[in-house]
Amino acid sequence: MRAYSAFSLVYDTLMEDVDYIGWADYIEKVFEKEQIKPVNMAELACGTGNLTNILANRGYHLLGTDISSDMLFIAREKSIEGSGSITYLQQDMKEMSLPTELDAILCVCDGFNYILDHEDLEGVFANVKNHIKKDGLFMFDISSHYKLKNILGNNTYAENYDEVSYIWENYYDEEESICDFDLTIFVKEDELYRKFEEKHSQRAYRIDEITEILKNAGFSSINTYDGYSFNNPREESERISFICR
Ligand SMILES: C[S@@+](CC[C@H](N)C(=O)[O-])C[C@H]1O[C@@H](n2cnc3c(N)ncnc32)[C@H](O)[C@@H]1O
Repeated sequence: MRAYSAFSLVYDTLMEDVDYIGWADYIEKVFEKEQIKPVNMAELACGTGNLTNILANRGYHLLGTDISSDMLFIAREKSIEGSGSITYLQQDMKEMSLPTELDAILCVCDGFNYILDHEDLEGVFANVKNHIKKDGLFMFDISSHYKLKNILGNNTYAENYDEVSYIWENYYDEEESICDFDLTIFVKEDELYRKFEEKHSQRAYRIDEITEILKNAGFSSINTYDGYSFNNPREESERISFICR
């Protein structure tokens, strides 16, 4: 199955521990630090809209884009439950086309690790730059090279809940710097479980690789941090934030 089709059914359960409110707080601290007051923003690879909803509820106008119709289906259902201004669009980031220039573009929870090719990533960043107003902000995180190679790579994870269980088997290809995730998901239907299988692939990028790609795409000010903090990245940082102007 395509990535993020069946997985969309279990995504929010599996992400229950992620501190999206803390991430939104951090993003707003970055706005303060960078002395900007964005109104119109896009969130790329927004998934089921967890961060999108929080930001919309804080008064921002959001465009949320994602390649997966299944993830967006859930995002749209959640936004009907009463959040602010959000428009969701199904788009591959590699062919992004947004109807307006934005004050800020965001991408959280390792969306860009799904772009497996350097040239494609440079194309995405150049396109992002063209969609941001002068003096706008581009902010995203990636799963670090260290995390994909040493933590997730060649490891197996499993969780067993009442309604859903999954097995997540990972294979890291050192030469290609690509981590393949084989996901087997069991979703409860009445007394039985339906089994789904999906394959996801993420590219492990080093900070200097991404920085170089951002520069080639036209970004001049690029700051990197250890996760959602203002500390410098460490050798063993698992998530790296990039804040670019
Ligand atoms: C780990 S999820 C993150 C979702 C959301 N940002 C969050 O924080 O919960 C990664 C998302 O990237 C999306 N994605 C992967 N490749 C993409 C692409 N080429 N273009 C747009 N979205 C993509 C997936 O469909 C998925 O929703």
